[in-house]
Amino acid sequence: MPLLAFETSCDETSAAVVHNGRVLSNPVSSQIRLHIEYGGVVPELAAREHLRNLLPIAREALRLAGITVEAIEAVAATRGPGLPGALMAGLKAAQATAYALRRPFFGIHHHEAHLYSSWIRGNPPVADFGRFQPNVSLIVSGGHTMLVHVQGLMRHVVLGSTVDDAAGECFDKAGKLMGLPYPAGPRIDELAANGDPGAFDFPRPMLKESSDDFSFSGLKTSIRYRLRDNPALVSSEQGLRDLCASIQRAIVDVLVGKTLKAARRLNVRCVTASGGVTCNRELRARLGEACAREGMELRVAEPSLCTDNAAMIGVLAEQKWHAASVPGMLDADIRPSWPLAGC
Ligand code: KG4
Ligand code: ZN
Repeated sequence: MPLLAFETSCDETSAAVVHNGRVLSNPVSSQIRLHIEYGGVVPELAAREHLRNLLPIAREALRLAGITVEAIEAVAATRGPGLPGALMAGLKAAQATAYALRRPFFGIHHHEAHLYSSWIRGNPPVADFGRFQPNVSLIVSGGHTMLVHVQGLMRHVVLGSTVDDAAGECFDKAGKLMGLPYPAGPRIDELAANGDPGAFDFPRPMLKESSDDFSFSGLKTSIRYRLRDNPALVSSEQGLRDLCASIQRAIVDVLVGKTLKAARRLNVRCVTASGGVTCNRELRARLGEACAREGMELRVAEPSLCTDNAAMIGVLAEQKWHAASVPGMLDADIRPSWPLAGC
């Protein structure tokens, strides 16, 4: 019973066909080039671009899956959180498709979908829930940083989230201060590989606190002051590499430290991670080392599923559909600020 899913919460337009946990197609069209000159995502441009991309990407998803639209048995889309205009474009396109086909529609919470993206594995990718176990899940991207205790499939408790900037936003804003193009995370990752992470001592905000919340705005301010006092740092190639390595080390220390602390406290044997920042090589490596030391299983989403994609929306929608835990929602509206706790 194939399901067609859409994701348009921010600056990626994606459609996917999922069938019994198997991802038959998952094309993603990124808008990064469109927003690069503005140094961040421009909501109105994102919404207009989604409208342009939705039909071609849905056709591409069906073509890659080798099925016609009439074979689709259910439709899903991201309902929130996200940019209102961007969400509206995908949700309404999906609901119109479901209405025309007379199929059920499921509105999915974007962060809840991230929680299960690390269980999608292989080629072709398949949702591997047979080996599911309770876990602490780190979701870390340009828009969100949160820790969640996933107690069972579709049973979760939010432990903490960022009180100000997300970790990806911190990478991007630090990059902007250093004159790197948006989004700076991947470039900082590259430059850090040949830098000295001990060259500059940046703060590790909230690392020692008992709360599971995060804060990255103080780190950003500290980088700003460091560059104000010594602007020549970024004009030497090695200075830039050392800065990147030191900034990355501070962010990764906080992410790894707080994730492992929560996992130990809750006595879980598994940690999962997803979201764009989990493409970061140091974060992946350090999470791997820390989990190995604790004898915990680590599941990090595959890079193509770390960033926003419709496959994760489709896989979760299928679970909800089969569990009948969510009725069809043909008239559901977008929820741009939907708390994960209430979904
Ligand atoms: O999940 P995503 O594609 O979009 C949302 O924000 O929802 O994440 C994008 C974020 C950006 O902040 C980008 O700089 C960051 O993920 N990012 C990275 C890396 N690749 C992407 N940050 C650090 N290292 C990377 N390799
Ligand atoms: Zn996301």
